[in-house]
Amino acid sequence: MKVIKTIEEARREIGIWRKQGLTVGLVPTMGYLHNGHKSLIEKAKAENDKVVVSVFVNPIQFGPTEDLDKYPRDIERDSVIAEEAGASFIFNPEPAEMYKSTFSTYVDCEGITEGLCGSKRPGHFQGVCTVVSKLFNIIKPNRAYFGEKDAQQLAVIKRMVRDLNFDVEIVPCPIVREEDGLAMSSRNVYLSQEERRAALILSKSLTRSKELLKNGEKETKKILEEIIKVIETESLSKIDYVEIVDSEDLAPVSTVEKPVLIALAVFIGKVRLIDNFTFIG
Ligand code: PAF
Repeated sequence: MKVIKTIEEARREIGIWRKQGLTVGLVPTMGYLHNGHKSLIEKAKAENDKVVVSVFVNPIQFGPTEDLDKYPRDIERDSVIAEEAGASFIFNPEPAEMYKSTFSTYVDCEGITEGLCGSKRPGHFQGVCTVVSKLFNIIKPNRAYFGEKDAQQLAVIKRMVRDLNFDVEIVPCPIVREEDGLAMSSRNVYLSQEERRAALILSKSLTRSKELLKNGEKETKKILEEIIKVIETESLSKIDYVEIVDSEDLAPVSTVEKPVLIALAVFIGKVRLIDNFTFIG
């Protein structure tokens, strides 16, 4: 698998495809690819002539106490997975290639970034919007693929694309889970055996909320209380947030009338995991 390190070379390669009238799908990632990423790449391959997978651990979306330095990295392994899934090349720039020492332009998406992860990770979505804008400008994809596990990220990117008129179609891709229900994440490698077992409490608590909603419960307060009760049965867990919000604008709702996003972030030991599901009704 070709691994391209510079913006210039990536643009040269994509320029050749463009002259041939080929379409391009982009799968933005921070690497350490798993089956969730693989499903994004495969979907991109099915819908475009060429697929670029970006692998870039974006320093500006991590807070000062977050896991930037220890975030798992393995470009050899990523190359094998990306190739199997049908990628044309990996774009893997160094931080200095993306951010010159005098870098000073950022993209901010307001409102929709205030709750959920946005309230717990100040500056995170500014970092995400900035790097995704740069990737769109570098790769100029026809379509870009984002996982629904990062539900707020997906909503923010859609809003940014609408607001700034990026000429790209955003394609949402369903959460991929392990057989026992744990949502796939590059951060799952941090979990000890005991924590891996405890991490199932996230999907279990969402399953409980699904049951309540299916049985007609509309009061979000009651559903939230029940989710919290389930999570608190797991001694290794510590809730960061649990929220029920409008699935479009991510504003908190008190009764379930329209489609809602039930989203949570929970620490299992020191590892922060997220999960969610959307209830259409
Ligand atoms: O979801 C991710 O892996 C990252 O937030 C993204 C979209 C690649 C931007 O760095």
